[in-house]
Amino acid sequence: MAQDTISVKDNSTGIEAELPLLRAELGTATADIGTFHKKLGLFTYDPGFVSTASCKSAITYIDGENGILLYRGYPIEQLAKESTFLEVAYLLMNGELPVKNELAVFTDEINHHAMLHEALRTFFDGFHYDAHPMAMMVGVVGSLSAFYHSELNMNDPEHRRISAMRMLAKMPTIAAACHRHSVGWPFVYPRLDLEYCENFMNMMFSLPAQKFIDQNHYIDPVAIKALNLLFILHADHEQNASTSTVRLASSTGANPYACIAAGIGALWGPAHGGANEAVLSMLAEIGTADRIPMFIEKAKDKNDPFRLMGFGHRVYKNFDPRATIIRETCYEVLDKLPNKDDPLFELALALEEYALKDEYFIEKKLYPNVDFYSGIIYKALNIPVDMFTVMFVIARTAGWVSHWLEMMAEPSHRIGRPRQLYTGSGKRDYISAKER
Ligand code: CMC
Repeated sequence: MAQDTISVKDNSTGIEAELPLLRAELGTATADIGTFHKKLGLFTYDPGFVSTASCKSAITYIDGENGILLYRGYPIEQLAKESTFLEVAYLLMNGELPVKNELAVFTDEINHHAMLHEALRTFFDGFHYDAHPMAMMVGVVGSLSAFYHSELNMNDPEHRRISAMRMLAKMPTIAAACHRHSVGWPFVYPRLDLEYCENFMNMMFSLPAQKFIDQNHYIDPVAIKALNLLFILHADHEQNASTSTVRLASSTGANPYACIAAGIGALWGPAHGGANEAVLSMLAEIGTADRIPMFIEKAKDKNDPFRLMGFGHRVYKNFDPRATIIRETCYEVLDKLPNKDDPLFELALALEEYALKDEYFIEKKLYPNVDFYSGIIYKALNIPVDMFTVMFVIARTAGWVSHWLEMMAEPSHRIGRPRQLYTGSGKRDYISAKER
């Protein structure tokens, strides 16, 4: 069967080119513009990559118009209801759901990689107590490359798999250490007998004089269920800014720990993963429901940089399916946990209701995204506000390493090297300092 193509014509020169049209398994077909420059002598211009597919991927599918999110074909709603974070991480990395024994082996391996090299602990001493935990995450995760570099053979799939496992396993340990460094508490070692999320909570909150989890204390199952759910919802989101950063950095063949550190840096921004922290700061600033109209007007004012944090998404234009799931969980968690924070949730609901009736938000299709609610649950779990984006890091590591594994296994992958539309000065001669 003849391949589908699209025709492009440069009206200024009359040169025409036929480009292959690649059909997706699901969703939008893609024009292959790899030969565009060769055939037409032109580049394509797409700031923000609004119309550009940067790679082929079989991991996650999003249909933004219909609010669909699939991990390896499985709807997010089903995974959120039935699965655990580690099972989802296995699915993302390996392409299939694990059978019982595969999950047991995977979990065991994660548990055994959770400890940090003792020398890594001293890195934290270089940070002031008030360093933002995301700054520490970038530095400490990047410095893992110093521990695992010379023996790493990037051409060996098993070496790559172990690197991915290490990152997934160590991320909660590093995250908890960032928090404990800022509050001046001693670091807690990971425990083999605890589930992934339980282990993280224990490393966050256990004290030498008062164990968080032992024979007499156990962590509320509602909290562990909520944490697993949030991690599942944040685990992957196809070619978002931080995943694309990881892919671009990795395309050079750089050390994977350094590439994940680059992804952490990209996630930190308030337009991306930093939104969950920004939502809480925004709700605190709004304070009471009677001030909502004033802040809505600020968000609509083009001369005011204020945006309604937790609203809008590049891909979802009707609803974010993750937000729908989290919204329901908010009710459940806040109802069951002892330290519920109802006024904040009430304020968030009032803000959502007000914004969704506003012509500006309706016309621009701006709806609450996943991070509008995630912070409310994290707060109910006693996670400090400046740790919210770190929580996102733990979850998204599953996606980053899956994309890294997928890309590195692709024999034809090339260095990512975008072109530009040059807008600077034309060629000119140097003028010596005394003549300027
Ligand atoms: N509040 C007010 N106006 C907004 C908002 C907002 N939150 N988001 C977009 N707009 C307006 C924007 O001003 C623009 O107006 P105009 O067409 O008149 O210039 C229009 O809507 C389109 O916005 P955009 O910035 O061109 O859209 P984008 O696709 O480039 O950006 C976004 C998407 C998520 C960065 C943006 O909606 C935003 O900044 N939202 C707030 C931050 C946030 O919640 N981010 C978390 C995203 S979900 C977690 C994740 O996956 O990372």
